[in-house]
Amino acid sequence: MKIAVTGANSSVGLNLLQHVIADDELDVIAAVRSERAAATLPVASRVEASIISYHDVTELAEAIAGVSCVVHLAGILIEGKGSTYAHSNIASTEAVVKAAQIAEAKHLVLISVVGASLDTSNAYFRSKALAEQFVEESGISATIIRTPILLGPDTAGAHALVAAAAQGRAKLLGGGRYFMRPLDVDDLSLAILKSCKCQANGVAVHELVGPDSILYRDLVSRVARMLGREITIGTIPIWSAKFLAAITSRLQRGGISPTVIDVITMNEVVHHNADAAIGITLTPLDKTLEKVMSTKKNTI
Ligand SMILES: NC(=O)c1ccc[n+]([C@@H]2O[C@H](COP(=O)([O-])OP(=O)(O)OC[C@H]3O[C@@H](n4cnc5c(N)ncnc54)[C@H](OP(=O)(O)O)[C@@H]3O)[C@@H](O)[C@H]2O)c1
Repeated sequence: MKIAVTGANSSVGLNLLQHVIADDELDVIAAVRSERAAATLPVASRVEASIISYHDVTELAEAIAGVSCVVHLAGILIEGKGSTYAHSNIASTEAVVKAAQIAEAKHLVLISVVGASLDTSNAYFRSKALAEQFVEESGISATIIRTPILLGPDTAGAHALVAAAAQGRAKLLGGGRYFMRPLDVDDLSLAILKSCKCQANGVAVHELVGPDSILYRDLVSRVARMLGREITIGTIPIWSAKFLAAITSRLQRGGISPTVIDVITMNEVVHHNADAAIGITLTPLDKTLEKVMSTKKNTI
């Protein structure tokens, strides 16, 4: 089976490509936006790098011609000068859906986020819900996977966690008193590939989170113990962080904004976990943290 993956150079994309390489049944078109991004992709016979633009749907359709399933990973949480939610999360999904229709792909997989909603004032959650809507209305069968914070050797969440834990005194937003359900990025990759192969009819919207619910402050303390460090956890009041972020993100036209702070500090609550429906076994948090630490310990 041949699949296409957009945003293949993302942390999820690079993890997914390793799982594709380990699976003899799969070939992949790894779609990225630049030569620079293409240079970060693994070199393997079943991985074909393709440089695409989301501005040209016809060209995009040609790039993914012949694939059975399109996995759309491109997307951002933190906006930058040239990367807004409108471009990265919404317009890219609209382009991929149109290209998949032209290329007559059989199935779409979209990675969204726990909390995505059209009825929210949070611009990030709303942008992900609008992306979901393009997929839902595409007429192509689809699997939408809403994920929480992802942990794996190269995810942004793992970098932030280890950086906080490596300090003697970590100052966390709101004292880190919010619950997380971290998902192992390997579990997400397996869920994506199951969805590509199964191609269930209609559109399924799944919330897929890790097996353990934990306060962020406890997660940081646990990682500090794994590093053999003593840690004291202090508090940055959320209101003051948002006040500062409102000014800096406006001046810099990007970066950490009040929107991002609301996302980071949201309780990740899920009532029905999709692991059984998708057909994967979740990795226990301890094991995920061990994997993260095995690549980080030498660099701290
Ligand atoms: N990491 C998490 O904890 C987490 C949690 C929930 C959901 N997700 C979702 O999972 C997906 C992968 O996340 P990730 O953390 O692995 O991503 P990442 O490493 O931050 O990479 C972001 C990807 O999006 C692409 N991108 C950025 N701006 C773009 C634009 N304007 N148009 C098209 N593509 C653009 C980047 O391409 P360039 O390199 O060319 O800029 C890159 O491939 C995203 O959709 C994200 O929203 C992630």
